[in-house]
Amino acid sequence: MKMNDYIELINDKLDQFIKIEYPENIFKSMKYTVLLPGKRLRPIMCLETCRMFGGEVEKAIPTACAIEMLHAQTLIHDDLPCMDNDDFRRGKPTNHKVFGEAIAVLAGDALLTYAPQIITKHSTDLTSDTIIRILNEYFEYAGARGVIAGQVVDIESENNEYAQEEREKILEYLHTHKTSDLFQLAMRTGAIIAGVNENQLTAITNFAKTFGLAFQIADDILDEISTFEQMGKTLGKDKTSGKLTYVSLYELEEAKCKLSCMLDDCYAIMKQQNIQSEIFEDIIEKIKQRVGI
Ligand code: IPE
Ligand code: IPE
Ligand code: MG
Ligand code: MG
Ligand code: MG
Repeated sequence: MKMNDYIELINDKLDQFIKIEYPENIFKSMKYTVLLPGKRLRPIMCLETCRMFGGEVEKAIPTACAIEMLHAQTLIHDDLPCMDNDDFRRGKPTNHKVFGEAIAVLAGDALLTYAPQIITKHSTDLTSDTIIRILNEYFEYAGARGVIAGQVVDIESENNEYAQEEREKILEYLHTHKTSDLFQLAMRTGAIIAGVNENQLTAITNFAKTFGLAFQIADDILDEISTFEQMGKTLGKDKTSGKLTYVSLYELEEAKCKLSCMLDDCYAIMKQQNIQSEIFEDIIEKIKQRVGI
């Protein structure tokens, strides 16, 4: 499948999976951010991992869509005034700007619980054992040891005064959790649905962890050098909020070097594992292009 086929499939399913029911406002708010035109990288990588390991893509669709819903939840909450206080997301006003803060908080909460229900309700061709395994992955990466841990440390390290060495460790920790964790979740579940062995699962986890870190470094760089038109969100905020990022810690050029090395590591893992995926190559090359490396 080509990138656009995946995107079309995911968008159709996301639309089908969220029906507007009473009380309409919460479902409209959930659907609003989920359906705005994101890149759909996490669900694509879930489906592509499944395909790559010989699984049936169809079987991974509910899980892939659930992970995109979880991602939308993290974005809605990330944009709230008490977090990053952002007014634009995916080229449109943020959820709380349209629906108000209370509904935006509730829409995030609702997506967090609605997403695993999509997995249990719609994965009719997976065994109960596989579904339980996938749910455990979901709860671990979505929870207090996962994305939430990353977001907590992100907020706590704003305007910090730690020593350089400590900052490096903290930065890797927060990037790993706030961003890599959802890529790990996406790729691990895709691999589990395909029925991989432990070695393959470890390799794909390493790939996802490295890719996720690289992805967040690219996001940090683009916050500095890109435009609203390209990114669909207000840029330059990391600096004004005193965020601990790869750019604030290492400066632009070194951050670009680190990003380039990590993307090379991604290719190396693919080669080592004999993984062939034009989709992954495409995604990596697009990141390089955007950042200009
Ligand atoms: C944004 O993720 C949040 C980060 C982890 C930097 P994406 O850049 O994948 O956002 P969408 O899904 O394309 O909007
Ligand atoms: C966001 O990191 C990560 C999550 C949403 C979990 P950022 O705060 O850098 O993402 P953007 O730049 O707002 O998309
Ligand atoms: Mg943030
Ligand atoms: Mg943010
Ligand atoms: Mg950012």
